[in-house]
Amino acid sequence: MAATPAGQHAHWSSRFAFILAAVGSAVGLGNLWRFPFQTGDNGGSAFVLIYIGCVALFALPVLMAEIAIGRHAQQSAISSTRKMAQEAGRSANWAIVGWVCTAGGFLILTTYSVIAGQVLAYSASGFYGGFSQPDGANLFYRGEFTQLAWHAGFMIITVLIVARGLKGGIEQVATFLMPLFFVMLIGLTIYSLATGAASEAIAYLFTPDFSAVTGQTFVAALGQAFFSVSVASAIMITYGSYLSKDTNIGSSSILIASADTLVALIAGLMIFPIVFMVGIDPAAGLGLIFTALPAVFADMPAGNIIGGAFFALAFIAAITSSISLLEGTVAFVEEHSDFSRPTAAWLLGFFAFMIGAGAVWSSDFGGLFVDWLSGSFLLPLGGLLVAVFAGWVIPKSLMREEMSHASNGLFAFFHFCVKFVVPPAIGFILFLGLDAKFNGGAIGAMLGLG
Ligand code: TRP
Repeated sequence: MAATPAGQHAHWSSRFAFILAAVGSAVGLGNLWRFPFQTGDNGGSAFVLIYIGCVALFALPVLMAEIAIGRHAQQSAISSTRKMAQEAGRSANWAIVGWVCTAGGFLILTTYSVIAGQVLAYSASGFYGGFSQPDGANLFYRGEFTQLAWHAGFMIITVLIVARGLKGGIEQVATFLMPLFFVMLIGLTIYSLATGAASEAIAYLFTPDFSAVTGQTFVAALGQAFFSVSVASAIMITYGSYLSKDTNIGSSSILIASADTLVALIAGLMIFPIVFMVGIDPAAGLGLIFTALPAVFADMPAGNIIGGAFFALAFIAAITSSISLLEGTVAFVEEHSDFSRPTAAWLLGFFAFMIGAGAVWSSDFGGLFVDWLSGSFLLPLGGLLVAVFAGWVIPKSLMREEMSHASNGLFAFFHFCVKFVVPPAIGFILFLGLDAKFNGGAIGAMLGLG
């Protein structure tokens, strides 16, 4: 199989392949499913602006740090952080940075796959003609057993790709699917703007209105930025470790974060014209794409095909993300055990499936807990740790050396952010999250962030 010979770490075949795989990781359900409903829940345009700020000030610097750490050490996230700390004369316990990130990425995979399975089922319903039948959007998605079957199916596809390795699996899928994704995205967006309520959607997304902003808007925007750019979860360290020394980390990171943000905005332009055309509440929440959109497709000419294509698009976005989520853990296990890559991928995929299945079965206990643990706790904590690691633990000269292609200005911006901006901001958010979880949000409410 594509397992790497001992002592020889795999590498991307080109910078282009790396960029496509990293953009594939970043662009996912976070852009198509989470970004629209977060925007709707948080008042539209103001959230969009704050979100863009969070990407630039928090997610982008952490992304640069992760790629630099991985590229420097050429190992999985846990080993990379350990190796780099030791090189800097610091404690090997700093590998905790890698551990937290790896655990976070793995846990996200468990529930990500459940939702991606639902996306796949809805795509099938659409192409089958389900949207025009009464209550037919979930034609193939009724009952827990069906949910688990789609969840399993999606996980199996993920495992099959990761098992094939970097070049034969991840890279091939990304270079084939990402261009297809962009073509479909542009096509569906033009269609939506042409048939839907385009001007209303544009006003909703881009006319600044700060009356709806609260502290909660910032919390949501930061969480969304980390989730969407795929940072703080071992993936970008791992993908960075497959890079060769001549790649420009600064410009690559800017490209990845910009492409991800652009896709989120375009996804907004694709979804909201349809939402406004039929007068759905944009704050319909988590179900926006699963309940609101199929109802709209039902009344549209060729709605089944358009709807099927929309969910197929979301599936493509999801699969290029889930392979990165699994890869973060597989790279570590492959490195530290006798398991071959395929065995590691199947084993970890199976565990992730079981945890996700538990979340489906006990949706009001386990599911919410897994979601909280990964999204609201491990992700911010991982981001905080990466920033502290890159800003305070590793000497500035070592980071500079790894980012030698970056201009002085860009590097200064990067280092200032990971040292002084990201840690306090995320520390505060993490605190608010814990307060909300275990203290009923009492302190948050006191600060007017309820
Ligand atoms: N960024 C992906 C999305 O937007 C999901 C994802 C991939 C992710 N890797 C991640 C989220 C790591 C958090 C952490 O859907």
